[in-house]
Amino acid sequence: MTEIELSVQDLHVTLGKNHILKGVSLDVNRGEIVALLGPSGSGKTTLLRAIAGLELPTQGSIRIGEQKVFESATKTEVSVEKRALGFVFQSYALWPHRTVYQNVAYGLKLRKTPAGETKERVHAVLKNLGLGDLNERHPHQLSGGQQQRVALARSLVYNPRVILLDEPLSNLDAKLREEARIWLRQLIIDLNLSAVCVTHDQAEAMAMADKIVLLKEGVIEQAGTPQEMYGEPKSLFVAEFMGANNTIAGRITRVDGDSAQIEGNGWSLQGRLRSPLQVGDQATAIIRLEKIRLAKELLENTLRLPLTASVYLGNAWEYVFNLAGSNLRAYGSEAMAPGEQLVDIPADHLWLF
Ligand SMILES: Nc1ncnc2c1ncn2[C@@H]1O[C@H](COP(=O)(O)OP(=O)(O)OP(=O)(O)O)[C@@H](O)[C@H]1O
Ligand SMILES: [Mg+2]
Repeated sequence: MTEIELSVQDLHVTLGKNHILKGVSLDVNRGEIVALLGPSGSGKTTLLRAIAGLELPTQGSIRIGEQKVFESATKTEVSVEKRALGFVFQSYALWPHRTVYQNVAYGLKLRKTPAGETKERVHAVLKNLGLGDLNERHPHQLSGGQQQRVALARSLVYNPRVILLDEPLSNLDAKLREEARIWLRQLIIDLNLSAVCVTHDQAEAMAMADKIVLLKEGVIEQAGTPQEMYGEPKSLFVAEFMGANNTIAGRITRVDGDSAQIEGNGWSLQGRLRSPLQVGDQATAIIRLEKIRLAKELLENTLRLPLTASVYLGNAWEYVFNLAGSNLRAYGSEAMAPGEQLVDIPADHLWLF
């Protein structure tokens, strides 16, 4: 049986006069990494702060392991220090005048942990994070990635059951970030922790998480495995958020079960209905860039389109076609000269919303 390490039920948070979280529920199982995704202002940080005990919700409940830390009905509220959590903030600001060791040890000192135990725990966590040789340095003597790891060490030194990470990799450059997300995922697994990790970046969420929760205006729009979120989006919002897409506007001209035809200025395509549309409705068709292929012959869902640009990406080429005045983008493996091409748009992957 899977054990739930963190359970949030029907959580409402109001900040000032604004109702920010409007009934959020989520469970994190032991050993699970949950990525919290959503546009800026959707309430990601607010949710982490409420779980940590830094915001007082108006309604709902929060449980960490066996411990009920918040429940509106019974007016239960456990203070920040008594929740078995680690927290890495969006801006993780290390203390500039303290060494790496002192930065990590500070919280234990505040909690009056005996000196010997503090020393042992700090050294253990620094070693674990590959910072063992840096403990006498000050933050300005560290790289961005090393500073990030010190911030992480600071939250792990309490041996939390659950760790809350708010954009933990946002201060790293793209290359370092890709390595760090794999490292961070492995670390969380190795330490047998559970984690909720906020990110803006859907690719990062998919690489790191077992489960993705997508917030929109304080409500969970959809939650599921990375595969479900990417492959079975239940709304246009989720489809657009989760991948690199082409979006094509048109009008529905035929509906037959879950398949339908969409038409625009000089083109017509078969697609799959992903919302209840009827003949005559204006609709949006979505297809991931990687699903579009060049064709050798005119098939049912093939369009003859002018190629307007061919962009070198290093590991692939990106082609830009002109479809009735809009761009249709696709990937390929070689440079291509401008001119007309046959472009296959598989009906199964053309989602109609
Ligand atoms: N103290 C506050 N008083 C009133 N409104 C607030 C307060 N703090 C945040 N908000 C509002 O709450 C909403 C959610 O903010 P939150 O910081 O949770 O968003 P976020 O999803 O973390 O965004 P980002 O990706 O930009 O970090 C925003 O509209 C924000 O303006
Ligand atoms: Mg935030």
